[in-house]
Amino acid sequence: MTLLEVRDLEVTYTDGAAAVRGVDLVLEAGEKLGLAGESGCGKSSLALALLRLLPAGTRVGGQVLLNGEDVLTMRWGRIRAVRWAQASVVFQGAMHSLNPVHRVGDQIAEPILLHRGATAAEAKRRAGELLERVGLPAARAGAYPHELSGGQRQRVMIAMALACDPRLIIADEPTTALDVMIQAQILRLIGQLVADEDVGLILISHDLAVLAQTCDRLAVMYAGRVVEEGPARQVHEDARHPYAAALSAAFPRIGDPASRYAPRGLAGDPPDPSALPSGCAFHPRCPAALDGCATHDQPLRDVGPGRRAACVHVSPPAATDAAVAAEEVRTTP
Ligand SMILES: Nc1ncnc2c1ncn2[C@@H]1O[C@H](COP(=O)(O)OP(=O)(O)OP(=O)(O)O)[C@@H](O)[C@H]1O
Ligand code: SF4
Ligand SMILES: [Mg+2]
Repeated sequence: MTLLEVRDLEVTYTDGAAAVRGVDLVLEAGEKLGLAGESGCGKSSLALALLRLLPAGTRVGGQVLLNGEDVLTMRWGRIRAVRWAQASVVFQGAMHSLNPVHRVGDQIAEPILLHRGATAAEAKRRAGELLERVGLPAARAGAYPHELSGGQRQRVMIAMALACDPRLIIADEPTTALDVMIQAQILRLIGQLVADEDVGLILISHDLAVLAQTCDRLAVMYAGRVVEEGPARQVHEDARHPYAAALSAAFPRIGDPASRYAPRGLAGDPPDPSALPSGCAFHPRCPAALDGCATHDQPLRDVGPGRRAACVHVSPPAATDAAVAAEEVRTTP
């Protein structure tokens, strides 16, 4: 069964900000999906919606099918169980997510006690194992968060996320506050854990290059919509949507010396989700916009195997000669 299927997801905040607009996503077990886009494009809103973590009053529409069960219509008791045992989230900035007055081992053990019905001794032993699993000595369980470095705290957050063996991990900018070396270590760790445990991963970042290195597939968001998705390397190296192409060009490509000297940014800012432009929301910034783009939005359409993009300039893959011949035979009177 498909691990996660998001259908027509909408998130609208109480002030009218349409942060997520009709997003469809599919994730299989063992698959790593990268979600990219500039600040404010709706990545975190989407992640929070997946586990119903949005502020009260936020309107959420569509379906979030986790192992076939719709998270958006679950009872609260069921949601609480699902949040640890089926899917868990690693947020940016571990210092704010960890409780400063509790030892990290106790914080890792807590969900094991609550959701696994383990004894105190079992939970303590499992917390030690999890710390070692993320590359920290079990003895660090006795440390308080302020006694650990930023990278170590983020490892603790990952250990917490793994505590109840979830099938899906959502990591929202898990390395943004860390230096480049630690960022690479944490991403390698996450990639390894996903491979070893056969869980699904949604990794969120504004950095397409980092996502392309770590993930199998990429989805690029703009103004609350997915505007392009497909195999990670193809989207990164040969984006079809002008926004995805600009985002890709904004980051140096690893192994491509020329791209180090010519990172091309994108002028202007993402739109205010309370007052989105008409037509294609990207049209005020788009270097390839046509007159009709200000009035007509484009749906995501197939542009190749496993690839979709939402732009007036993209067309379906060319039909094969055999398919064209078959069509001619079928339509010839
Ligand atoms: N609680 C809220 N109430 C009203 N608007 C919100 C709220 N949270 C986020 N927004 C708005 O929704 C839009 C999407 O925000 P979101 O945090 O999902 O973006 P993001 O892609 O995660 O950005 P970043 O890369 O900066 O983390 C933004 O315009 C933001 O201002
Ligand atoms: S639909 Fe038009 S404005 Fe939107 S990305 Fe394509 S060319 Fe640019
Ligand atoms: Mg965010």
